[in-house]
Amino acid sequence: MGYLLLLTRRNSRIWRLYSVATAPAARGVGIGKRLLEFAINTAKQHGASALSLEVKTNNVAAIQLYEKYDFAVVDVLPEYYDDGTDGYRMRLSFSPLANDLESQ
Ligand SMILES: CC(C)(COP(=O)(O)OP(=O)(O)OC[C@H]1O[C@@H](n2cnc3c(N)ncnc32)[C@H](O)[C@@H]1OP(=O)(O)O)[C@@H](O)C(=O)NCCC(=O)NCCS
Repeated sequence: MGYLLLLTRRNSRIWRLYSVATAPAARGVGIGKRLLEFAINTAKQHGASALSLEVKTNNVAAIQLYEKYDFAVVDVLPEYYDDGTDGYRMRLSFSPLANDLESQ
């Protein structure tokens, strides 16, 4: 009914929520929230300092989902997507060190 793809790199404590989607027929019943909670808990359990993602600025459903879990816009990415749409980089920090680590 849905999937979520998390990426991490050796020596990086910033995990990336690369992709998430739920089946069109199963939207709006909480699957996205459960997937996101799984991602947040998994990243925390593995010692991540933050979870980062990119989203189209016009993707209201996804942005509201992320904001519900306290993700905040940290950057605007002009024409980030192939179709010319701008992107937001959003991040949920688990520790105050996350900002320093982002630049590494
Ligand atoms: C974004 C997406 C994953 C949400 O999945 P979902 O299973 O429908 O989400 P949920 O039912 O758990 O809803 C979680 C929250 O998302 C927000 N939301 C979901 N659908 C929404 C809509 N159509 N409009 C506005 N907000 C919406 C709400 O804040 C909702 O919380 P609430 O039910 O307490 O109001 C789903 O719409 C999707 O697969 N979209 C296409 C793929 C996509 O855009 N992925 C994100 C790429 S960055």
